[in-house]
Amino acid sequence: MPTLRRLPETLVNQIAAGEVVERPASALKELVENALDAGARRIDIVLREGGRSLIQVSDDGCGMEADGLSLAVERHATSKLPDDDLTHISTLGFRGEALPSIGAVSRLSITSRARGGDTAWRIRVEGGRLSPPEPAALTAGTRVEVRDLFFATPARLKFLKAPRTEQGHAVEIIQRLAMAHPEVAFSLGDGSRTLLDLAAAPDLATGDDPYRARLARLGAILGREFEDNALPVNAERAGYRLTGHAGLPTLHKRTSAQQFLFVNGRPVRDKLLLGAVRGAYMDFISADRHPMVALFLELPAEEVDVNVHPAKTEVRFRDAGLVRGLIVGALKHALAEAGHRASTTVGTATLGAFRPQEGPYQGSYPRPHSGASASWATYHPSHPSQGLAEAQAAWQAPDRGGSGGGFAFDSAPAARVETGAPMPVEHDPNHPLGAAKAQVHANYIIAQTGDGLVIVDQHAAHERLVYERMKEALAAGGVARQALLLPEVVELEEAAVDRLVSRAPELEALGLVLEGFGPGAVVVREVPALLGQTDAAGLVRDLAEDLAEADAALSLEDRLADVCGTMACHGSVRSGRRLNADEMNALLRQMEATPHSGQCNHGRPTYVELKLSDIERLFGRR
Ligand SMILES: Nc1ncnc2c1ncn2[C@@H]1O[C@H](COP(=O)(O)OP(=O)(O)OP(=O)(O)O)[C@@H](O)[C@H]1O
Ligand SMILES: [Mg+2]
Repeated sequence: MPTLRRLPETLVNQIAAGEVVERPASALKELVENALDAGARRIDIVLREGGRSLIQVSDDGCGMEADGLSLAVERHATSKLPDDDLTHISTLGFRGEALPSIGAVSRLSITSRARGGDTAWRIRVEGGRLSPPEPAALTAGTRVEVRDLFFATPARLKFLKAPRTEQGHAVEIIQRLAMAHPEVAFSLGDGSRTLLDLAAAPDLATGDDPYRARLARLGAILGREFEDNALPVNAERAGYRLTGHAGLPTLHKRTSAQQFLFVNGRPVRDKLLLGAVRGAYMDFISADRHPMVALFLELPAEEVDVNVHPAKTEVRFRDAGLVRGLIVGALKHALAEAGHRASTTVGTATLGAFRPQEGPYQGSYPRPHSGASASWATYHPSHPSQGLAEAQAAWQAPDRGGSGGGFAFDSAPAARVETGAPMPVEHDPNHPLGAAKAQVHANYIIAQTGDGLVIVDQHAAHERLVYERMKEALAAGGVARQALLLPEVVELEEAAVDRLVSRAPELEALGLVLEGFGPGAVVVREVPALLGQTDAAGLVRDLAEDLAEADAALSLEDRLADVCGTMACHGSVRSGRRLNADEMNALLRQMEATPHSGQCNHGRPTYVELKLSDIERLFGRR
C-alpha cells in the first residue's frame, strides 16, 4: 500500500510556484503588483537575460519591518485581507502566495525599510531555504531581487524561451499594469538599455482632466496613433462604471492583442469582455480585423470574483449580462458620437503611398520643373509607388486637352472645377468635409476643406449611408417606400423567383415590394425611397443571388449590412455615376450628419483627408 504523508513545505511552495510563476514575466507581475499595493509612486525594474538571471523591482511604497519581512515569504501570510473577507478584495494581491512561491524556485532577496523606520532589513530565501533578516542599507521602500529563476526546478527552466521573447512578455505585463496606473512612474531596463520610461501623470483624482492624464499614458505606450484616434468612453449602469478609450474603427489590427481590459484596476484577458468589444464593433469592422481599446471597468468588489485563476488574469462576474450590455452600449455610443470621423492613419497611409518607399532621394524632393526633360522616374529609379506611377502618367500625358494647355486626364472631372469665389462651407467648422470641387474617375469626390482636401469614395460612402438610414428607419418602425410609376417585371430563373417570393414580407419591411408574376418572373411595385433613382431589375437580380448564398436561417435584418450593400449598388450614388456639384455636396453633408459614416460596412474608410501641410511637404515646399 502506498504511504500517505504530508509534503515538505518547500515542495508545497514549488507546486504552488508551478501555477503562479509560469515564466519570468509572471514573477515580475507579482512583484510589481505588490509594489502597487504598497502605494508606490515610482517603480524601477531591471531584467537580465529576459528575467532569467535577474529580476529586480524597486519601489517607494510603504515598506516592511523586520518581522513583516519574515512573514512575507511565508506561505499564506498576507496583509491584504484584514477582515478575512474574500468578497471584498480591493488590492491586486490577496493570497499570500506569490513571494513564498517565487522563493521556492529561485534565489530571492528582499530589502525593505518601513515608512518612518530608522533602518532597512534584508531577508534571503534560496530554493525555499530561509535565512533570518539582517540590517541592510536602503533609504526607503522595497527592493526585491529574484536571481536564477527556476534554478531549483530544472524542468521548468527548460521551457523558458529565448531571453528576447521572455523580455517581450515582461514588457507587455508592465505596459498593462502601467495603463491602469498612470499616477505611478515606471521604468524598465536590461542593465544597459532603457526599454520603458513612463513619467507619472498628475494625480487622476486631483488632475484637471483624468481622461487627458490617462490618454497621455496610453499614448506613451500604444503610440501617437492611438492617442490621436481614440474616443473617450464613459458610461454607468447600476453601480458598474466603464471608462477608457476606444479606437476608431478605421484603426484596426490583425489580432486582438491591442485590446486592453481592466477590472477594478486589474489587467484581465476575459472572453466575456473581449466578446462584448467584438459585438460593439461588429457593424464597422470585418470579422478578421480587430479594434484597439483600453477599457476600465469599475464595479463593487462583491460583484466580481477575482479568485478564479492562478495568475489572476480571469475574473467571474455576478451579472455577466449587465457587464456585456454596459460595454456594448458604451462603445456604440462613443462610436456614434464620432460621426463621420475616420482615423488620421488613413490620411497618413495615403501620403505614404505618394512617397517613394525607397531610393536615394528620400526626404529631398527635386522639383520636376528643374530638370526640363528628366522624368519623375529618373529621380526615383527604384520602385516608384503606385501613386507616383500615376502622377507620372498624368505628368507625361500628351496634351489632348486642346486650347487651355492644361493637363489632360483620361477621365475629365464631371463637375466643373470651381474657380470663382470659394464656397463658404470650406471654412465652416460644422462642415469638416468641405466643399466639393470635382469628381474624378466617376467615383471620387474631391472636396476642399479649411486646411486641406478630402477625397471621398462615393460608392463606399453611399453604401454606409444607406445602411445607417435603413437601420434607423427599421428602428423607427418602417422604411419609407416609393412606388414605381410603371411596375417593373423582372424575368428570373424559377428558383430565384421562389427565393424572392418566400422572402417577400421581409423585403417589404426593407422597402422593396414585389410579388410573383407567372412562371419565371417577379413584378416590382415599390422600392426603398432612400435609394433615389433605382435600377429595380438589377437590384432584384442581385438580391436573388444574395439569397441563394445566404443561410436560410438568417433573417435579412441580421444580414442588413450585406443587403444594404447590394441595395446601395443600385441606388443613385453608386460608383460610375457622374454627380453634379449639388449632388456631391449633398452627399458630403449627409456624411457629416450620419453616425459611423467614416468607414464602409467592411471597415474601409469612406474618405481620406490630406492636410495642406502634408501636401506642401509632398511637393518639397516644407
Ligand atoms: N513591495 C512591497 N512593499 C510592501 N509590502 C510588501 C511588498 N511586497 C510584499 N509585501 C508584503 O508581503 C506580503 C506577501 O506578499 P505576496 O505577494 O506573497 O502575497 P499577497 O500580495 O498578499 O497576495 P498574492 O499572493 O495574491 O500576491 C504582502 O501581503 C505585503 O504585506
Ligand atoms: Mg502579491
